[in-house]
Order: sequence, then C-alpha cells, then structure tokens
Amino acid sequence: MKKIGICSDHAGLEYKTRLIGYLLGKGYEVVNFGTDSPESCDYADFAHPLANAVEAGEVDAGIALCGTGNGMALALNHHRGIRAGLAWNQQVARLVKEHNNANVLVLPARFVSYRMAVMMVRTWLVTEFAGGRHQRRIDKIVQP
Ligand code: RB5
Repeated sequence: MKKIGICSDHAGLEYKTRLIGYLLGKGYEVVNFGTDSPESCDYADFAHPLANAVEAGEVDAGIALCGTGNGMALALNHHRGIRAGLAWNQQVARLVKEHNNANVLVLPARFVSYRMAVMMVRTWLVTEFAGGRHQRRIDKIVQP
C-alpha cells in the first residue's frame, strides 16, 4: 500500500492534518478528501468520495476519522467494495487487517490520543491479511 486516501469531519480534522504529515514523512502518497475546515460538517460528505476512490483503485486504501468513528464507518460500509473497520487500540488495528482485511481504517478522534492514532495507523499499514477462514467470513458479509 503506497497511496493512501484520508478524510475526516471537523472532529477528526486535527488528527487528519497531523496524520497526513506523518504519512508523507514515511514515504506514502496521500490523497486528502477533506474536510479542511474546522466548521461543523457532515461526515458522509467526505466518506463517500473516499470510498469511491478506494473502490475505483485510485488509492490503495483509506483512513477516515470522525468523533466516534461510527458515522464514518456507517457511511463507508454502504459501499460494496469497502470494508471499513473501527479501531481504538493497536491490537484492534492489527486484527481489523489480519482478520477483516479492512481497506479503510476508521479512527475515533475524540476518544483516542494522537499518539495512539499514529500507532494504530502504523500497525494497520504493515499488517497482512491472514486469509484462510477469514476470507470465507469476509465473503459472507456481502451475502445477506
Ligand atoms: C460530530 O459532532 C460527531 O457527531 C461526528 O464526528 C461523529 O462522531 C459521528 O459519528
């Protein structure tokens, strides 16, 4: 994964801005889908463009932030090609890739420290999907 799309609402803006700097410093290409304003806004307006870009292969994966992470996750997971997983510590960030193969990592900016957010991003980026029984389980997500 080299090209990462990122978005937030106003609640995630500060962490998003800092994470963009972190990712660029690590050599990733970053596409910013907003918001870039501290004004109150609607998370879905930024989730959908990010999801479209991931589905179209314009970015390799995505990171989304809002206050709880739930608004972003709910909007992103309306897209058939998206598996958006919420993480709140490093172990969950690892498992959301290893077991769920999340192609968008969702972070609850109001409930984790920035330091934890960076550690989760780093862990999720380097973790590989385990496949096997987890692929079978993922396949069933889109077969209600
Ligand atoms: C914004 O106040 C807040 O509702 C939003 O960031 C998010 O937590 C929604 O799920």
